[in-house]
Amino acid sequence: MFTRHNRQSLLRYWTTRYVITLCIGLLVIGIISGLWIQYNEAEKRLNMMSLMAEEIAERIVDTNGELSIGPFLGGFFNRRLPFLHLEDKPLFFIIDQQKQVIFADPPQGKMGDGPLMDIKMILDDQTNIGKTENKHGGNMFFVKREVETDGHTIGWVVLLSPEKEITQSKSEMQLLITLLGSLALLGWIVIYLFVKKLATPIKDVADAAKQIVKGNYRVNLQREVKEQELAELLESFRNMADRLAQLESMRTELLAGVTHELKTPVTSISGLVQAVKDDIVTGEEAKEFLEICTKETGKLQKMVEDLLEFNSFTVGNVRIRKEHLDLPQLIQEIAHQWEIVQDENTVVVHLDMPDKTLMLHTDPLRVQQILYNLLNNAKQASKGIAEINIRLYETGQGIAIEVRDCGSGIPREEQSLIFEKFFRGEAKKHKVRGLGLGLPFSRLLAQALGGDLQLTESSEKGTTFTLSIPAL
Ligand SMILES: Nc1ncnc2c1ncn2[C@@H]1O[C@H](COP(=O)(O)OP(=O)(O)OP(=O)(O)O)[C@@H](O)[C@H]1O
Ligand SMILES: [Mg+2]
Repeated sequence: MFTRHNRQSLLRYWTTRYVITLCIGLLVIGIISGLWIQYNEAEKRLNMMSLMAEEIAERIVDTNGELSIGPFLGGFFNRRLPFLHLEDKPLFFIIDQQKQVIFADPPQGKMGDGPLMDIKMILDDQTNIGKTENKHGGNMFFVKREVETDGHTIGWVVLLSPEKEITQSKSEMQLLITLLGSLALLGWIVIYLFVKKLATPIKDVADAAKQIVKGNYRVNLQREVKEQELAELLESFRNMADRLAQLESMRTELLAGVTHELKTPVTSISGLVQAVKDDIVTGEEAKEFLEICTKETGKLQKMVEDLLEFNSFTVGNVRIRKEHLDLPQLIQEIAHQWEIVQDENTVVVHLDMPDKTLMLHTDPLRVQQILYNLLNNAKQASKGIAEINIRLYETGQGIAIEVRDCGSGIPREEQSLIFEKFFRGEAKKHKVRGLGLGLPFSRLLAQALGGDLQLTESSEKGTTFTLSIPAL
């Protein structure tokens, strides 16, 4: 029986698995994008601050080439602030040639006790844009510009803002989170719908299989699907169920056929023997009766032997003795041997063989058995003199032997059943005695030799079977 523990439904299994993968993927994308956005924002703000510092540096030099801080400065600075998108205003310093702060916004007194950071260190720094530490240990970005006149540095403009302020980008982050969140939700919905769509027909097939296990072959698989693979699965399953139903109903019928075939000779033998025993027939007639009995016994014996051999074959007791032999020659011999034991003027066998030796490693007795079955069937299907053609030809993989008759043919609806054990055609079963084992047995033998036996074509004009034998 199936072990059910630790099994999850397809829907749950794949939905959780895919959603976890999706979320991990989106998280990685989120982190990378977040860092990139922060870096970009910081760069933009620092460039903007640089530009402001440069503008200020140009405006605070008077006509004498001296530093002059006019009242315009505060307004000018404040008008540009909104472009920075900062929550707090940056610190703004103007420093003279002696490295003394001559202007500070906010004024230095408001910054607590003493200056917040070492301005001299910033001035000594080689770069114009950089990072420094304030006295509370926090990181600050600085932007510095030299104030120049006639090629001399007469002071500096310095702008400072905490790192947190410079790198923050709230609205972009909100947008990113909303986007990734929507993507995760959308992904989950798509996967959920997809797996649900996939799981439903599979579940239908599993339910139908359970019905078949219970012996109910009339399964209900009416669902129409658009996907090719699923449609194929449903279609094949429906066909399989139909075929099983057909075989199941055939089984009882076929068994009745077999019983009938075995019973008929027994009944006739016992009737004949009884007649002789009761002296109803005497002399020459009695002898004739006993002769019929011997013939019937022989047929019965043949049928029982067929049945026993078929059975031992199907349970795997296959005895194959391969030899190296010339196949055209073997087929000729087999055809000849078969032909000479037939009643006179009942069969004509035509052979069509390549005019050369074709050595093969195979079992001659099994090949003979198969051909005898095919030839007997061909003869039984023919009216009057049975004309049979045997053609041998080489194929890519080995050799094929075609047995063609000019008989009545096999009705289309019976063609898929003739290799079923105990199946007998409607026309034949009332005419010739047999168990319906010839073809299935021959196919088993052909497969045991590594080849196959197929019905190539059949019409009212005749039937062709092809036996293929591999080269090795
Ligand atoms: N050459 C043929 N022409 C027409 N019908 C055929 C031919 N060969 C086989 N069949 C059909 O296929 C059925 C199955 O053949 P198969 O050889 O398995 O059984 P059988 O000949 O009826 O009985 P058995 O071979 O056991 O004596 C036959 O009953 C017949 O209806
Ligand atoms: Mg037969």
